[in-house]
Amino acid sequence: MGIAKRTFDVVVVGAGGAGMRAALQLAQAGLKVAVLSKVFPTRSHTVAAQGGIAASLGNVKEDNWHWHMYDTVKGSDYLGDQDAIEFMCRAAPEVVYELEHFGMPFDRLDNGKIYQRPFGGHMQDYGKTPVDRACAAADRTGHALLHTLYQKNVQANTNFFIEWMALDLIRDDDGDVLGVVAMEIETSEVMILHARATLFATGGAGRIFSASTNAYINTGDGLGMAARAGIPLEDMEFYQFHPTGVHGAGVLITEGVRGEGGYLVNKDGERFMPRYAPNAKDLASRDVVARAMATEIKEGRGCGPHADHVLLKLDHLGDDVIRHRLPGIRDIALKFAHVDPARAPIPVVPTAHYMMGGIPTNYHGQVVAPHRTAPEDVVQGFYAVGECACVSVHGANRLGCNSLLDLIVFGRAAGRQIIEDLKANPHHKPLPADAAERPLARLARLEAQKDGERVADVGDAMRRTMQQHCGVFRFPDLLAEGARKIVEVAERARYTEIRDKSRVFNTARVEALELDNLIEVAQATMIAAEARKESRGAHAREDFPERDDKNWLKHSLYYSEGRRLDYKPVRLKPLTVESFPLKARVY
Ligand code: FUM
Repeated sequence: MGIAKRTFDVVVVGAGGAGMRAALQLAQAGLKVAVLSKVFPTRSHTVAAQGGIAASLGNVKEDNWHWHMYDTVKGSDYLGDQDAIEFMCRAAPEVVYELEHFGMPFDRLDNGKIYQRPFGGHMQDYGKTPVDRACAAADRTGHALLHTLYQKNVQANTNFFIEWMALDLIRDDDGDVLGVVAMEIETSEVMILHARATLFATGGAGRIFSASTNAYINTGDGLGMAARAGIPLEDMEFYQFHPTGVHGAGVLITEGVRGEGGYLVNKDGERFMPRYAPNAKDLASRDVVARAMATEIKEGRGCGPHADHVLLKLDHLGDDVIRHRLPGIRDIALKFAHVDPARAPIPVVPTAHYMMGGIPTNYHGQVVAPHRTAPEDVVQGFYAVGECACVSVHGANRLGCNSLLDLIVFGRAAGRQIIEDLKANPHHKPLPADAAERPLARLARLEAQKDGERVADVGDAMRRTMQQHCGVFRFPDLLAEGARKIVEVAERARYTEIRDKSRVFNTARVEALELDNLIEVAQATMIAAEARKESRGAHAREDFPERDDKNWLKHSLYYSEGRRLDYKPVRLKPLTVESFPLKARVY
């Protein structure tokens, strides 16, 4: 077939926390592992995670995993699968101690134990009072975590393909996954990576929105590849808006600021969160805080000449605490908001941050989808973890610092599962003759296209559509119009043209390929949001303001082909404990 091929036991796509934790497990087991990354591994988006990783260590206040599990189920607005949530919360202390033993430089309490701070929605005693559960390395926890995992992977002989972009999955006639077709960004060289197991850890897709805390690399590549390979995407209507993005810049200001005692005020200087969440106040879960901020702005109590943001006040914490516990936030405030937070509040707005949905998996990281003749089955050879996966522990709304936990718990779990599965499948299945046909055709189309639209223009249209039609509050007419518009934008994306064909960094070609993935995610998000006629977690509809458990306690599944939706039940039964019964969600 004329293109190069390399063979591995496992190909991991993505070198963030989830991919590197899985790769470490696999490489330490003696498997031949390739990790593909569009950027140098320690520049993956995990590096931007600030406030902490959740675990009920109880280093500051009494805590246990049952309370953590309760908070996560409640935070998910009961859409999270309780078996997976139990699995994650129980494993949390163990995986954090494991990171500590790998050498991760956590901050310390005076007694030498790992430093922990409060975070939104994390409470003691089944929702009573905030608890310090976020294990932190200042406000650079993701940075510390990612560098630790990278060093351990180098030590374990993981093979890194740096600045390589996966283009498409390879599936055979049985529907089994046999690897990926990938492109070296610098040279455009295309290669087949043939594997007995393929694990996606490609992160989120925040770049479907104009204002996002996400890195430019977060383009939903894994979801695009899965969708094109016929795998559905789960719960895509649930997109989290982080309450505190820097106004006008989108850069994240960690919830850890509120954990350390910061709070939000409106134009009258009023601390408004107690009106919306009398108990948890500024430490309510993110969807609640983001809606409260949007309501303050909508009702005319926003700040600034356009009354379009609120203020995050932390000057009362003092310069010492800010410099010691929140040094990165100080830098960000100075650079992006031009304020010294020890003297003046930071202007903030809710900003697109995290995708709760993703590729459907079980808690072993195995991709679960209609397969062969079964309506729901494990797709052989295919695994997904981290933000690109929907396991589903976050349901309709993720709690802060549960994402780093998700990466590490399910990265390790998938690694363990793959090791077991490969014992039963010691040989590579043969590649189909047309393994690289689809991505090569996409590349050829891009090279040949004349008089097409610019990728940047179509990308802008997509981002504007998502931002205007699918935000913190969702309106029926805007959703219906958004669903129409996004399909039109998807049609335009089929005829984009690369104007700059030079190979200098190859950015034009890469952006065109990324747009194919973004547009899959954007359509799934908009179409699933338009269809869900209730409000739950991050999906807040003006026309259906209540949660509707009778009709909508179910996961959505979006199929790219035919832009079709299906639904499946929520797993309400945990592994060993009693289910948490559905109740109204108040903070
Ligand atoms: O606010 C933050 O530090 C973000 C953490 C998260 O998204 O979990």
